[in-house]
Amino acid sequence: MMTQAHLHSLCLLALYLTTGYGQEGKVSGPLKAMTLPVFEGQEPSQIIFQFKADPPAVTFKLTGETDDTFKIDSDGLLYHIKALDRETKAIHNLQIAALDAQGATVVGPVPITIKVEDINDNRPTFLQSKYEGSVRQNSRPGKPFMYVNATDLDDPATLNGQLSYQIVIQLPKINNVMYFQINNKTGAISLTREGSQELDPAKNPSYNLVVSVKDMGGQNENSFSDTASVDITVKENIWKAPEPVEIVENSTDPHPIKITQVRWNEAGAQYSLFEKEKLPRFPFSIDQEGDIYVTQPLDREENDSYVFYAAAKDEYGKPLARPLEIHVKVKDINDNPPICPSTVTVFEVQENEILGSNIGTLTAHDMDEENTVNSILGYRIVEQTPKLPTDGLFLVQTYQGVFQLAKRSLKKQDTPQYNLTVEVSDKDFKTLCFVQVNIIDINDQIPIFEKSDYGNLTLAEDTNIGSTILIIQATDADEPLTGSSKIVYRIIQGDSEGRLGIDTDPQTNAGYVTIRKPLDFETAAISNIVVQAENPEPLVSGVTYNASSLATFKLIVTDVNEAPIFSQDVFQAKVSEDAAVGTKVGSVTAKDPEGLNVSYSLRGDSRGWLKIHPVTGEISSVAPLDREAQSLYRVRVVATEVGGSSLSATTDFLLTLTDVNDNPPRLVKNYTGLFLCYPLNAPGSVIFEATDDDQQSLRGLHFTFSLGSESLQDHWEVSRINGTHARLSTKHTDFEERLYEIPIRINDGGRPPLEGTVSLPVTFCTCVEGRCFRPAGHQAGIPTMGMAVGILLTTFLVIGIILAVVFIRIQKNKGKNKAGSAQASENQPLRS
Ligand SMILES: *[C@@H]1O[C@H](CO)[C@@H](O)[C@H](O)[C@H]1NC(C)=O
Ligand SMILES: *[C@@H]1O[C@H](CO)[C@@H](O)[C@H](O)[C@H]1NC(C)=O
Ligand SMILES: *[C@@H]1O[C@H](CO)[C@@H](O)[C@H](O)[C@H]1NC(C)=O
Ligand SMILES: *[C@@H]1O[C@H](CO)[C@@H](O)[C@H](O)[C@H]1NC(C)=O
Ligand SMILES: *[C@@H]1O[C@H](CO)[C@@H](O)[C@H](O)[C@H]1NC(C)=O
Ligand SMILES: *[C@@H]1O[C@H](CO)[C@@H](O)[C@H](O)[C@H]1NC(C)=O
Ligand SMILES: *[C@@H]1O[C@H](CO)[C@@H](O)[C@H](O)[C@H]1NC(C)=O
Ligand SMILES: *[C@@H]1O[C@H](CO)[C@@H](O)[C@H](O)[C@H]1NC(C)=O
Ligand SMILES: *[C@@H]1O[C@H](CO)[C@@H](O)[C@H](O)[C@H]1NC(C)=O
Ligand SMILES: *[C@@H]1O[C@H](CO)[C@@H](O)[C@H](O)[C@H]1NC(C)=O
Repeated sequence: MMTQAHLHSLCLLALYLTTGYGQEGKVSGPLKAMTLPVFEGQEPSQIIFQFKADPPAVTFKLTGETDDTFKIDSDGLLYHIKALDRETKAIHNLQIAALDAQGATVVGPVPITIKVEDINDNRPTFLQSKYEGSVRQNSRPGKPFMYVNATDLDDPATLNGQLSYQIVIQLPKINNVMYFQINNKTGAISLTREGSQELDPAKNPSYNLVVSVKDMGGQNENSFSDTASVDITVKENIWKAPEPVEIVENSTDPHPIKITQVRWNEAGAQYSLFEKEKLPRFPFSIDQEGDIYVTQPLDREENDSYVFYAAAKDEYGKPLARPLEIHVKVKDINDNPPICPSTVTVFEVQENEILGSNIGTLTAHDMDEENTVNSILGYRIVEQTPKLPTDGLFLVQTYQGVFQLAKRSLKKQDTPQYNLTVEVSDKDFKTLCFVQVNIIDINDQIPIFEKSDYGNLTLAEDTNIGSTILIIQATDADEPLTGSSKIVYRIIQGDSEGRLGIDTDPQTNAGYVTIRKPLDFETAAISNIVVQAENPEPLVSGVTYNASSLATFKLIVTDVNEAPIFSQDVFQAKVSEDAAVGTKVGSVTAKDPEGLNVSYSLRGDSRGWLKIHPVTGEISSVAPLDREAQSLYRVRVVATEVGGSSLSATTDFLLTLTDVNDNPPRLVKNYTGLFLCYPLNAPGSVIFEATDDDQQSLRGLHFTFSLGSESLQDHWEVSRINGTHARLSTKHTDFEERLYEIPIRINDGGRPPLEGTVSLPVTFCTCVEGRCFRPAGHQAGIPTMGMAVGILLTTFLVIGIILAVVFIRIQKNKGKNKAGSAQASENQPLRS
């Protein structure tokens, strides 16, 4: 028996070692409190643990919930002899004690807990094999409408007890679209998005699903599974947008008025409305039955349609479904009268618009709905003011509002303006609108002369220029003070010379005929003047000036004896100053308007140079002319009628004398003071200057100088300094103490050259301190009174000295007449 037990233990040990099973890898240990896991469902006689105890312990004792299943042998091997089942008993509480040979407890008893570990030894099972459920069309996707439920006895804390649901089959299934989904953890069945959109009880009200449940989280090949059948009925969803609502505007019924309703599929939903966009006022409400009301009268003219949403929520405020769009259309009633486009509508019409012309359109407005009887307007003229020249000048097209001329073209002369009262009506209302028709003048009226013949107009031919000789008058019926009525008078006949002009008074259109150029009996004694009256603006086509725009008068110019008239205002002539006496220097002509002979005479011929031929007007010289005396000679010429009243006219004759080289050169002044000191010590010289009275050329004077007598060449020499100056020099020193008159020839080099011989006085005199003390000749300048006395006294003194010297010379005999020193001086001698 013992042996058998030992053998048994050995087998257990071997098994135990091969399985390698044990807590924390330990299969044996000292006896102490511990928890030992043991898998359920294993074959019996499995060693759980081997306890060890020190002597004196020799054996072990097992107590507690052994249930005839757990055993311990004397070696301390704990084992079970029946298979364990976690689902029956998961925890076994044992106590083990170590005993000595006497059976006394050495260690313990200590608690040993056997924890039965789960294995997947139970299948999941649907609680029902067949489920039935229903779903509303258009239910929110993902919102569960039914559950399937399965159980599994295995430990839910392990994979063995974790269930996963799945739809295996959906029948019918069109286009492979799943309409249903299942929550793999909870078994909740809901619609997919497609299901929410496409399920339609009218098409297919029932579906069958095969759902499966698997343990091991559904992820293990070895998981157990179960299936169940689910029948689903699709029911109509009554949560649907109602038909668009029409509300007649401006309702007088008491509000609120129910207009439509929404209903959630089940009772107990919370309803609310919200706007699509924020409006100034939102006249709608909903009650908890889902009835929708309009709360106040609507105005189509304010807003002709409303769109808003109705929402249904559960008691937690979570939306039950999509909100429904509610459309409200406001129906028009004729509650608006027609409105005139403006207080007064103004049309402008030209005078020549023909009968039937459209002259304007009155477009009144009606706020009521367009293209309905409420807003279709009719037009009618109810009054025309003034009724000139007749009533009913205008008509209006009843529905278009187009105004036309009904009878004739309008004339501004009749009235410049018509006021029309127009009745505009819709179905129920009438409005009066006012139309003002302004008539625009056109130039359709020609000027009409008050008379066509202004008769004979007799004027003296000497009537002053600028005189108004006649006032003519035409009138124009076009609008005053415009280019259509303004009148311009134009002489179209009888005045080709333009002697007359006509100015128009802009206010009265009177034409003032004035004289612009002298009248002339001799050329035009009688003129038939034709005057045309015209507008500055062109006439409209179809209207032309006719004879009524013409007037005539006869201008009769009477003769007046007039003075002769020179053919020129002034006569001019030019003649060379050396013209011979009797040369014709010019001529004048004058004519008497009356044709009388004219006799010419001169006045103011101060130099007596000219004479005029009384008949021919030829002017000729009667004396030598001298440009140097007067280069521009002015005389007056008089033309006198022969006979008649001897009227005369005068004008100027201007004679310009042109220069000829007719003046010989001369000394520039009277050289009275040129002297050389006597006796000459050396040859001396004096300088002089020449000039010429002729017109000088631009390059100045260019004289050449020479001695006037060949015989003087031994004694004198002339040398040119420049064009005007020359030097007279002595050739020796042997001169007497006296005045020498040296003839000098001066040539002006002109064309022809003119030569003059002048006498240059040079005095040889005794010099005192460089001054000529006693001029030998008498060529003094004009002396003053004091000077004259001085001269006289000096003369007496000198005479005395001379006499004395003469006597002394005579005494000392002659012969000693040799030259002393000669002093050249250009100083002025003393004036004595
Ligand atoms: C499934 O059935 C079990 C047992 O009847 C129950 O405890 C559990 O609440 C059910 N689960 C659902 C989702 O109904
Ligand atoms: C269960 O569903 C969740 C999400 O719905 C998914 O992530 C998971 O993979 C699913 N498990 C299985 C086993 O299909
Ligand atoms: C009228 O209502 C529509 C829709 O509700 C909105 O879009 C529009 O702005 C409203 N018009 C006025 C004038 O309030
Ligand atoms: C309602 O109608 C009456 C007459 O029918 C009118 O006088 C009133 O102006 C209307 N109200 C609106 C808001 O159109
Ligand atoms: C037309 O009416 C206006 C006022 O609206 C008035 O000034 C004018 O004189 C009227 N014209 C005629 C021709 O009645
Ligand atoms: C105007 O003068 C003409 C002659 O030039 C004469 O025949 C006519 O009778 C005169 N008319 C008047 C109205 O004097
Ligand atoms: C000229 O025309 C006007 C109308 O424009 C008419 O009254 C007048 O009689 C006409 N005169 C002549 C001479 O034809
Ligand atoms: C006018 O002069 C011309 C010649 O010059 C002469 O024949 C005629 O008789 C003169 N007439 C008078 C009215 O003197
Ligand atoms: C020069 O003398 C002459 C004759 O004596 C005299 O007629 C003339 O006036 C004098 N000229 C000057 C400028 O003194
Ligand atoms: C000519 O010579 C004189 C004397 O030298 C001088 O006074 C004068 O200015 C000269 N004239 C000219 C034009 O050079």
